[in-house]
Amino acid sequence: MPLLLGVNIDHIATLRQARYARAPEAFNAEPSPLLAAFDALAGGADSLTLHVRSDRRHMQDADAFRIRAKVPLPLNLEMGVTAEMLTLALKLQPDFACLVPESREEITTEGGLEVALRFEPTRMAVTRLQEAGIRVSLFIDPDLPQVEAAARTGARMIELHTGCFANAPEAARDAEIQRLAAAAQAGHAAGLQVNAGHGINYSNLTRLWAVPHLVELNIGHSIVARALHSGLTPAVRAMKELMATYPTLT
Ligand code: PXP
Repeated sequence: MPLLLGVNIDHIATLRQARYARAPEAFNAEPSPLLAAFDALAGGADSLTLHVRSDRRHMQDADAFRIRAKVPLPLNLEMGVTAEMLTLALKLQPDFACLVPESREEITTEGGLEVALRFEPTRMAVTRLQEAGIRVSLFIDPDLPQVEAAARTGARMIELHTGCFANAPEAARDAEIQRLAAAAQAGHAAGLQVNAGHGINYSNLTRLWAVPHLVELNIGHSIVARALHSGLTPAVRAMKELMATYPTLT
């Protein structure tokens, strides 16, 4: 079975918020997460991921509902384990929910969920969501106690945090791959679907081939960065072409 790609489009909203933080709904607010979702669909994305944070620093609720209504791709909502996010997820009805830790200061999700330490609230969130027909994934560090605790919550999937692997110096990369492989083996043996994400890019991707049982990778930053680089030349050209229509006085 080929690996599935979940495209995380949060950074499209990050860029929009840099200019339109107070008016993300303005008629001229750009770039548009909805258009980015259609672009991801056209590129062959298997699903879309977006993270509505409690401070709404990038994706807004309206983005999530609009994308859910209009884009024919499975939607994965990344969410903190809070009552507010649970209410939002039950209303939005995404296909999947990925439970992540969330702190206000972090720039992106920095570590995995502490499932073992916060077992009861996590298990309750998993139960509520899955009873509503939303398949739940837990974003965890690739450590065996976390895998074991994740399985006990009743979640159907885990997403292994690949950030340590992605940020490791070359000398430590193989050890991080071994860690991911062991966690993937354990997750698969426990009957969980094993996904992975965070910090995966065009150059480190194939190192993950040594990790067995992977079903889906969630990738955001690197794809959005690539899109900016590859799209800047035509964007400048289009502006120049428009400017060339300036009526010159003869
Ligand atoms: N998976 C999870 C749970 C995440 O929080 C993120 C980052 O928002 C990603 C995947 C994507 O990571 P990146 O943007 O580094 O590709």
